[in-house]
Amino acid sequence: MKKMTIAIDGFSSTGKSTLAKQIARALGYVYVDTGAMYRAVTYYAMQNGFIDAQHFDQAGLMARLPEVQLGFEFNADLGFAEMYLNGVNVETEIRTLEVSGFVSKIAEVSAVRAKLVEQQQAMGKDKGIVMDGRDIGTVVFPEAELKIFMTASPETRAQRRYDELKGKGQSVSYDEVLKNVQERDYIDTHREDSPLVKADDAVEIDNSHLTREEQFDAVMDLVNHYLN
Ligand code: DC
Repeated sequence: MKKMTIAIDGFSSTGKSTLAKQIARALGYVYVDTGAMYRAVTYYAMQNGFIDAQHFDQAGLMARLPEVQLGFEFNADLGFAEMYLNGVNVETEIRTLEVSGFVSKIAEVSAVRAKLVEQQQAMGKDKGIVMDGRDIGTVVFPEAELKIFMTASPETRAQRRYDELKGKGQSVSYDEVLKNVQERDYIDTHREDSPLVKADDAVEIDNSHLTREEQFDAVMDLVNHYLN
């Protein structure tokens, strides 16, 4: 049976992980959320005093980077792999708005990107993988058989993220979520190393007005076109 690599890139809160999980489940592929890896490094930097609202000690973080161990462990109840940082499950801790506020700064650091990209490429070496992020189709797997680039309006995305955070009981306002979405869009698309851009051969999906099912069906058509 032919196996493929599926790269899903796009702006924050475009529903990349929802789609990626659906596709991985349908194909029996491994799903990797690379945003979780950048979030885990951010959480590590926060916990160890390398980053806060006033400062970012990049050199300090660099010196300790070798001791940052990231791993995924599949949780059968949830149906996806959870993020572990140095052996500890940090799946909840990395999803806060506070982490979202610092993560783009961490993701700008080339040494961080190099470490994570190497790990991501190793995870996908046998194909049969769906990976989502910002640079999967451009840097991590430029040879991926299928590349999807997801977009939606900032307001639609902020509303989705707001609903999600509220649903988890976090106290946030819609305005601060929108501000975070816009700031991350700016930093993610303007950073020097591996900025978020659509790969030339990626299929763009604007899902502002698509249901999850419509989006899933559209991508499965592309997958089946390749596999058959
Ligand atoms: O997908 P997410 O919102 O959880 O990603 C968090 C941040 O990590 C995002 O703002 C940019 C960064 N990121 C990245 O630079 N490259 C990736 N492949 C994935 C995420």
